[in-house]
Amino acid sequence: MSEREMIFQKNVVLIGLRGTGKSTCGRILAERLERAFLDTDEIVQDRAGKTIREIFEEGGEKLFRRIESEVVLEAADRKNAVIATGGGAILDPKNVRKLKQCGFVVHLSGSPEELWRRIDADKATAHQRPSLTRNRSLSGIQELEELLLKRSAAYSRAREVEVRVENRSPIQIVDAILLLMRARHLLPN
Ligand code: S3P
Repeated sequence: MSEREMIFQKNVVLIGLRGTGKSTCGRILAERLERAFLDTDEIVQDRAGKTIREIFEEGGEKLFRRIESEVVLEAADRKNAVIATGGGAILDPKNVRKLKQCGFVVHLSGSPEELWRRIDADKATAHQRPSLTRNRSLSGIQELEELLLKRSAAYSRAREVEVRVENRSPIQIVDAILLLMRARHLLPN
């Protein structure tokens, strides 16, 4: 395979906090590119036969991160796929190394207020979400602010590009990602 063909086989990897729309945008992007779509949170749940919240409750975050890492490393072995990761997947440097090797890493980002507005509107998944900070008295926005503070350096290290999600629909976010891919010659003309 030529170097050019290999570049077009690169995965697209979406990283970012909860509420940035990684799964929704990933699914649309995969359709547009006619590629397979992998959602690491979904694969973790299928593998464990439990919701993420149940995994956290029964085995703690440590167990969840172990399964998540297995799933992320396997997904990264695929070619030509769109991979949506869980918000904390970038906490493990092993995951980051592998994701950067296998793909174009796009960081979807937004203010805690905007992300909370989106999460709060998504009542369907509320029961699946574990608390991610030790302090359970924090409001949703405060929890996101804390996560952002703790993780922003890790997101910056992991990403190749950042796409802000404020005032953009999922389709507009996908269009922005496609533009960035074209600009980097990651798509055939
Ligand atoms: C997590 C985010 C979740 C899920 C798990 C942990 C995190 O994924 O992986 O609850 O640490 O930020 P989403 O970002 O898809 O909600």
